[in-house]
Amino acid sequence: MNITVIGTGYVGLVSGACLSELGAHVTCVDLDEGKVERLKQGIMPIYEPGLEDIVVTNHEAGKLDFTTDTGAAVAKSDAVFIAVGTPQADGQAEADMSYVYGAAKGIAPHLKGYTVIIDKSTVPVGTARRVAEIIRAENPNADFDVASNPEFLREGSAVGDFMRPDRVVLGADTERAMTVLRRIYRPLALTGVPVEECNPETAEMAKYASNSFLAAKITFINQVADLCEKSGADVEDVARSMGLDKRIGPMFLKAGPGYGGSCFPKDTNAFAVIGRRNGSPQHLVEAVITANEDRKRRMCERIVEACGGSVEGKTIAVLGLTFKPDTDDVRDSPALTIVSKLHEMGARVKAHDPMGAEHAQAIFGKQAAEICDEPYACATGADAVAVVTDWAHFKTLDLKRLAATVRGKVVVDMRNIWDADEAIANGFDYHCIGRAPRFAAREQAAPLRRAAE
Ligand code: UDX
Repeated sequence: MNITVIGTGYVGLVSGACLSELGAHVTCVDLDEGKVERLKQGIMPIYEPGLEDIVVTNHEAGKLDFTTDTGAAVAKSDAVFIAVGTPQADGQAEADMSYVYGAAKGIAPHLKGYTVIIDKSTVPVGTARRVAEIIRAENPNADFDVASNPEFLREGSAVGDFMRPDRVVLGADTERAMTVLRRIYRPLALTGVPVEECNPETAEMAKYASNSFLAAKITFINQVADLCEKSGADVEDVARSMGLDKRIGPMFLKAGPGYGGSCFPKDTNAFAVIGRRNGSPQHLVEAVITANEDRKRRMCERIVEACGGSVEGKTIAVLGLTFKPDTDDVRDSPALTIVSKLHEMGARVKAHDPMGAEHAQAIFGKQAAEICDEPYACATGADAVAVVTDWAHFKTLDLKRLAATVRGKVVVDMRNIWDADEAIANGFDYHCIGRAPRFAAREQAAPLRRAAE
């Protein structure tokens, strides 16, 4: 099986490398010559655990190659994946489809023999049909079908998510196309991975609906956390109790500063637009979008309140800038909102992140925060420390050492990563998410509960 993957961004590169790992001969195409050359030398454009290994191994084995020559790659392929970006269009909620349509145009003249073109990018419902129209207009004699095979890759565990997915969704209109898709994913089906076969619209919808549902789940528990703080309940225990119900499940019930990243914000926005366009507004998703934006702003207010009502002239140490750990991605990260707002309010912000500092600074500017290489240096002399990303090594910081460096002793732990009793024992004024305000022992929580009654 010969496969071309158009686009060596996050989705394209991970998919191309993993498809070669599954046994296909894969050519990844990108317009950026420098990037193609670097990939041939094993230099990765993104950080993703395990990716470099499979790229280098399969490239050396002759199963994975990189080129700028779309024509040569497409002409010899049985399947062509379109894995280019669908960023949120400037100032718009919907996805910018110009790269996908551009890729379709670029592929069309080079098709030889029956070929399945597969949308891998997250695209609005109906895109497969639109892509087919574009190709037909460009090359009326081409023998092809367009299918949809959405990805469900999480940053930081994308290789594992591809190789051991919860499911594979294959959307095709013809048996001929479905046969090609089945062949591509046969190695996964043989390991017991459920393979869902459906039409392209269903596959496209499944992706948006899944991401929107997960975003709603996070937003739900975040709102429950707010109520917990007012009523003396503990959101960690509530989430555990909820998660034991098999109908709910334990995942994505971790309260925090709001979701970010390259997918949830973009996909929920696009889904809301698709709903309105089709006369079927997704009210729940729209409420989720608003609640999440409010939450990011509210997190900054939490720091202000913890600092006694003002951060002006105060030094705030922000630990974590990426939207989640094990990635250098800061897109739509709650930390960006928090740093920018703190800066606006006259705080001196120091920030530390093991991987995302450079990207974050490029967005909020050098003035907004001083970047520190490690967490203790970041906390030194600060009036308050805010934990925004749950990097593993933040969990094991020596709280005694930290307490000795922080001036104001205020901690706002937005990921509930520290043991409250230990933090308090080390003299911190400890604030966390969804637990009784100053947290702590039941005796302290009880009056709060009574007050709420
Ligand atoms: C997500 C989807 O999980 C993936 O299937 C899709 O293909 C792309 O979008 P990703 O954005 O990499 O993946 O990250 P994910 O691990 O899902 O987390 C997204 C955001 O939600 C992060 O900001 C994270 O901190 C937050 N989150 C997640 C919570 O706040 N609580 C949770 O319980 C889970």
